[in-house]
Amino acid sequence: MDNITEIVNDFGESIIRVDGDIPVNLPTKDGDRFLFISHDQSILTHGLHKYPAKFFPELPRWLIKRYSQEDDWILDPFAGSGTTNVEALLSRRNSVGIDVDPFSRFISKVKVTPLAEKELKLAQKVLLDAILDYRPSLVTESDFPDFPYRDNWFNKEILLELTYLRKQIQSLSTTDGVKDFFKICLSSIIRAVSNADDNCTRTVIRKKLGKLIRPSDALNRFAKAVLTKVPKMVAFSGNYPAHIITDFPEDMDARNIKYERNYFDLAVTSPPYVNAVDYPRTHQLEMYWLGFAQDTLTPLKKQNVGTESVSASDYKILHEIGIPEADRVMTNIFEIDPRRAFIAFKYLEDMRKNLSEVYKALRDGGRYVVVVGNNRIRGHLFENWKYLMPIAEDIGFEIETYFGSEIINHFVKMPRKERIHTDWILVLKK
Ligand SMILES: C[S@@+](CC[C@H](N)C(=O)[O-])C[C@H]1O[C@@H](n2cnc3c(N)ncnc32)[C@H](O)[C@@H]1O
Repeated sequence: MDNITEIVNDFGESIIRVDGDIPVNLPTKDGDRFLFISHDQSILTHGLHKYPAKFFPELPRWLIKRYSQEDDWILDPFAGSGTTNVEALLSRRNSVGIDVDPFSRFISKVKVTPLAEKELKLAQKVLLDAILDYRPSLVTESDFPDFPYRDNWFNKEILLELTYLRKQIQSLSTTDGVKDFFKICLSSIIRAVSNADDNCTRTVIRKKLGKLIRPSDALNRFAKAVLTKVPKMVAFSGNYPAHIITDFPEDMDARNIKYERNYFDLAVTSPPYVNAVDYPRTHQLEMYWLGFAQDTLTPLKKQNVGTESVSASDYKILHEIGIPEADRVMTNIFEIDPRRAFIAFKYLEDMRKNLSEVYKALRDGGRYVVVVGNNRIRGHLFENWKYLMPIAEDIGFEIETYFGSEIINHFVKMPRKERIHTDWILVLKK
């Protein structure tokens, strides 16, 4: 195993560094800490679209190979942008990805759908030619999508260009799969050509950044995205095992998994962090352009585990989860911020429901691997992973092992004190 070295971090702690692919039989002990250096973040379809707190592909690849066989069924109940599903597919496993967010399911679906090279290249040519023919007079303002604060988020020239590109994609005479792929290419440039900060999980305009967007930026960025993403989709489609099934059901929730008992051989996931990323708000501009949202995001937010959309009547009193360590922290938070104490409580309750649903859906001996981070809530350290272990045991899981994965390169940008440094990987066995 020549890609493994032992290093010592700034705090004198010993960390095992693994560069690139993680060996299937990597020895691990309870509490070990690893620094996985990814080489594959954007290979094949993995890099088609940004997504907050996305897995690096080597992690689910390793867990899938370590804990399942070819043709097995894998579940990711918080699928996000489908990294687990892409890796399951490439390792010849069937998989299901559940996510309440329609935009996430759309990205995931595009990432696992192979496309014929000829069709793709033909559509690419039509779109690149259309960019050369662009004139603002080809677009009328009545074609602009209607959404809140639209003219603050985007300059007029960009609205014209994005509307033009969207129209060109819609009128391609090709398959829906090819159109969806180009919609994802378009979506991938939207944040960059908006007036919002590119690097924040919240969609916000920060005047002091002085972000400068020029006419033609949307056209140029789209052309560049197409030219880098089409070859990746071609390479992915050439690797595609035709007999494998990958599904993203629409009517499910990680707390309500409508599959028969014992259906899955393995589940791998990274649930949301409590109180950290507001997913609908992160990709609201992309959802408006692609037609997944029109005005309020609140109904979508409410479905999220870890949501901040809670009612005042819920947090009048302190709620207890029955895990002494967690209850102590929630009591401390309650004293200064009852609302946040309730958000934390609800998170653990929701995770209890999820653990119980996955337990039912797994076969005996199957594993649920949960990758979860800690965070700070009003200055108090909230150690999710430690609280989830007794909850999982209560449901019937055995804690097979747990170890840490240091985070060095994360799309999640949070205020300094809230930053998450280690994800914990819990291997739960039914
Ligand atoms: C940390 S992200 C997963 C990222 C994923 N591992 C990837 O590689 O892209 C967590 C996801 O959980 C989803 N989520 C939140 N609440 C959910 C629920 N109740 N049921 C299913 N998915 C949910 C969010 O929409 C988000 O996509």
